Amino acid sequence: MKRLAVLTSGGDAPGTNACIRAVVRMALRHDYEVLGIHRGYAGLMDGDFEVIDGRFVGGIAHRGGTILKTARTEKFKTEEGRKEALENLERHNVDVLVILGGDGSLTGALRLHEAGFPVMGAPATIDNDVAFTDMAMGVDTAMNTALQAIDKIKDTASSHRRAFLVETMGRNSGYLALMVGIASAAEAIVIPEVPSSCESILASMKEAHRKGKAHFIAVIAEGADPDCRTLDQYLKEREDQLGFGVRVSILGYIQRGGSPTAFDRLLGTRLGAEAVKQLVNGEKGKMVGLVGSQIVATDLEQVVGTKRGVDLSLYELAQMLEVYPSR
Ligand code: F6P
Repeated sequence: MKRLAVLTSGGDAPGTNACIRAVVRMALRHDYEVLGIHRGYAGLMDGDFEVIDGRFVGGIAHRGGTILKTARTEKFKTEEGRKEALENLERHNVDVLVILGGDGSLTGALRLHEAGFPVMGAPATIDNDVAFTDMAMGVDTAMNTALQAIDKIKDTASSHRRAFLVETMGRNSGYLALMVGIASAAEAIVIPEVPSSCESILASMKEAHRKGKAHFIAVIAEGADPDCRTLDQYLKEREDQLGFGVRVSILGYIQRGGSPTAFDRLLGTRLGAEAVKQLVNGEKGKMVGLVGSQIVATDLEQVVGTKRGVDLSLYELAQMLEVYPSR
C-alpha cells in the first residue's frame, strides 16, 4: 500500500484542520495509508510520525489551530536537517508528502522537491503573502476577527472621542491591514507597501477632528514603515493640537485563532482534496491555490520565486474614502 504523509508548518492558520481532514479522507479514498507528521518540519526531522485513520480527522473542521501541531525551526534550512528529514520519510516508507503552510514552509517544500521527494504544497497563512493563490487558508478568518475587534474599539473610541492606532499582523505584508482597514471604514491605513509619514497621519487626524468626527481609527500593519513604529509617541506628544486622545491596540495573536469562517473551511477542504488528487495523478513539486473560483496547481519554484504585493488600487480607493469632502 502506498503511503501519504501530511504536515502543517509555520504560523497556524484557521481552515487548516478542514484541509487536513480533506487530505486524509481523500488519500484513504485512493487507497493510501496516511501518516500525520506532528510539529511540522521539526517533527519531520525528529521522526514524529503517526499513522492516522479517517476517524482521527472527525469533528475537527470547525476548530482553529492545527491538530497536527506546528513549529518554526531553523534546522530544516541546513543540509543536515534536510538529510534527517529525507531519511525519516524513507524509514516510514512515505511515497508522497503534503505540506500546509506559508512562504517559509513552501520554500521548505521546494527544497524537498529539489532533493527528489514528491511533495504538494497548500497555502496556509493569515498574511496572504503567497503568490499564485488569491487567498491562503486563514486569511478570511483573521480578517473577520480583526474586523470584529475594530468594530468594538470604535465604540469606545467614539464614546471618548479618541484616536486609535490598531496594529494588525501580516509580517511584511500589508494585505490584512489594507483589507480590514477598508472593511472597517478606517480613517487611515498604514502598510509597508506604501510609505507614509507621522506628519501626514497627524494632519489627517487634525482634519478629521475639525470636521467633527467622533473617533479616528488608523489600521497599521505590523510590518509598516519604521517611521510608524514611533507614531504613538509622536502623536501622544501632540495630543493638545490633535483634539483626540491617542490610544494603541495591538490585535496580535487573536488573529491567528478561532473557529474558521465558512470561506476558510471550504477553501481548506478544496485545497486539501486537490493536493491529494494532484499527487495521485503523478503531479509533484507544486502548490495548489485558489485562482479566481478554481483550484489551480502551480510549480513551487514559481510560487516561491514570486513576490506577492497588495492591490494598490484598493489602497487608492481607501484613501479616496478616508476623509470625506466638506460638501
Ligand atoms: O506568519 C503569520 C504570523 O502570524 C505573522 O503575521 C507574524 O508576524 C508572525 O506569524 C508571528 O510569528 P510567531 O508565531 O513566530 O510569533
